Amino acid sequence: MSALPPSAFTHLQCSICGEVHSAALPQTVCTSCGRPLFARYDLGAARRTLTRASLADRPWTMWRYAEVMPVIDRTFVISLGEGMTPLLHAARLGGSLGIPQLYVKDEGQNPTGTFKARGLSAAISKANEYGIGEVGVPTAGNAGSAAAAYAAAAGMTAHVAMPADAPPVVMDEVRTFGAHLSLVDGLISDAGRLIALGVAEQGWLDLSTLKEPFRVEGKKTMGYELWEQFGGELPQVVVYPTGGGTGLIGMWKAFDELEEMGLIGAERPQMIAVQAEGCAPIVRAFDAGAVRAEPWLDAETLAPGIRVPSPFADDLILSAIRASNGVAVSVSDDDILDAMGELAEEEGIDAAPEGAATLAGVRKLVASGVLNPAVSVVLFNTGSGLKHPELRERVRERMD
Ligand SMILES: Cc1ncc(COP(=O)(O)O)c(C=O)c1O
Ligand SMILES: [Zn+2]
Repeated sequence: MSALPPSAFTHLQCSICGEVHSAALPQTVCTSCGRPLFARYDLGAARRTLTRASLADRPWTMWRYAEVMPVIDRTFVISLGEGMTPLLHAARLGGSLGIPQLYVKDEGQNPTGTFKARGLSAAISKANEYGIGEVGVPTAGNAGSAAAAYAAAAGMTAHVAMPADAPPVVMDEVRTFGAHLSLVDGLISDAGRLIALGVAEQGWLDLSTLKEPFRVEGKKTMGYELWEQFGGELPQVVVYPTGGGTGLIGMWKAFDELEEMGLIGAERPQMIAVQAEGCAPIVRAFDAGAVRAEPWLDAETLAPGIRVPSPFADDLILSAIRASNGVAVSVSDDDILDAMGELAEEEGIDAAPEGAATLAGVRKLVASGVLNPAVSVVLFNTGSGLKHPELRERVRERMD
């Protein structure tokens, strides 16, 4: 990767109060207001080299966007080939839904089978540059297996905590990559409390979603890829299964950076957040016109990645949806199972339940007249169906 231009990363800045923080040492959240920090770049410098023409010769991973990635010395980058996932035209499903321009961004083709690879490649690479040896991550499951894989590649020790009812495949992955796995009787929020103890007592680096500034930098590359894959433009609608919201927030940040570099105009896709009926804090807050989301009690859904009862960056998720003129919508577990079957049978796409939720959400929004079917729509299939052998039979039963 030595031929790539340098990173234009300069500092961190609070996403809410705007306070500037140095990135010379690892940071967590804003020391003034406790909210997420964003990486900031000298975009004036970045725009001189980051062009569609220059990208043509670059490596086929998310690290191709070198100017707007936070690792300064590229020898510290830990890459397993994450990013540059296919944008599939879902012509058959689009036909039956009446959306001719329906696409699926298939994030299931990432290392460890989910888009979590992007965030963890960025966070572990930056931790590597800081000389960190031990990291901790609370997870619904998939971020844990990605963290374990990248930590293994970096020669770091990873501590992963997840709910005891997380997918067994993911637990196996974590153990096989050599990470320390703790199972908690509860949800990702309870896993977070366990990891916080290790952070306080053992000095691990906390990789919790958006309490660590660089996972979102990896996730934002989904926005850059959309721009490349749509030939220097953006789709009109982006549909995203929203748990902690890192991907949605990251893409929104990418669009702002692209505009500041003069690579797009002021127009943005409508951002549609899809949640499960059994855990829909963002949908409830969106419908109520609230700026923050109340924690969701007794969260329950078969899609573990969106079983996030109290997303830390709720305000950033809600403001991106509103600024984009988007909406938030919830779907039932049965709708999710049906959508998994449809994606498999109609398109040959083996979707994770979270990814399939986006199809269920779009179906609902088209039926209610909220979504105009004459526009380009990208569904984010955030993971592979291979993570969920336990759902196969239930999906097939409903297909018959
Ligand atoms: C497959 C999958 N989809 C979606 C999500 C939600 O991601 P985000 O935190 O970006 O909202 C997760 C998070 O665990 C996931 O594993
Ligand atoms: Zn702040």
